[in-house]
Amino acid sequence: SNIVAIVPAAGSGQRMQAAIPKQYIKIGQSTILEHTLQKLLSLPLISQIIVVISRDDNYFSSLKVATHPKIKLTYGGDTRADSVYAGLLLADEDSWVLVHDAARPCVSHHDIEQLIKMVLANNQGGILATKVTDTIKKSFDQRTQVLPQIAQTCDRRQLWAAATPQMFKVKILKECMQSAKSQQIELTDEASAIEYGGGHPLLIECQRDNIKVTRKEDIPLAKLYLHEQGY
Ligand code: CTP
Ligand code: MG
Repeated sequence: SNIVAIVPAAGSGQRMQAAIPKQYIKIGQSTILEHTLQKLLSLPLISQIIVVISRDDNYFSSLKVATHPKIKLTYGGDTRADSVYAGLLLADEDSWVLVHDAARPCVSHHDIEQLIKMVLANNQGGILATKVTDTIKKSFDQRTQVLPQIAQTCDRRQLWAAATPQMFKVKILKECMQSAKSQQIELTDEASAIEYGGGHPLLIECQRDNIKVTRKEDIPLAKLYLHEQGY
């Protein structure tokens, strides 16, 4: 079966507080986005990569990968979900799609291959995720409280932190995202669209190095993980 990737890279990186969007920060010889694309480009199973950039992007066209034959480009929207949806419009409806954040350059080949293998073997969508190791507290609704207080402790044995790639059939993901949007449901990942549609995607455990580079302190960590992977 045909597999394409969508890489949402249209964010502005507010929490990074850098002069440029975080996906264009260099780690070693390459930008974060180039590291991410290199990981996907080196997997022959992935036939095409749809990169979603901002209309105001001034950086992508100067990257070496910009003219790679496997890469297609489109413009994103105001939210991550809008950007992913814009990418889906370019994908063949019968394909599988791997949606992978530009901001996760440290994902390992092994974990991506594991996700693809499990999803195809079970013919069911799934995501990379890590088991939660912290004790997670749920607060009361923050809008009704001056001081945050614990409402309850979650059962950690059932908790996972969602990562990417997230892999689904293009047609199903498109339909679920469209229906979530029409109900004004805000999505922070692809799996939640499927969940609102009644589905239960697979959880495939990945290594903890698959961090989302979000704040300044994540840069040295990403650098270390990439170095350990030989980049
Ligand atoms: N993204 C996107 N379109 C948007 C918002 C985000 O394509 N409108 C992408 C980002 O470029 C990133 C991924 O979605 O690769 C995950 O989002 P996040 O880590 O939140 O990145 P930013 O939105 O850029 O960062 P911040 O939330 O701190 O502004
Ligand atoms: Mg964001």
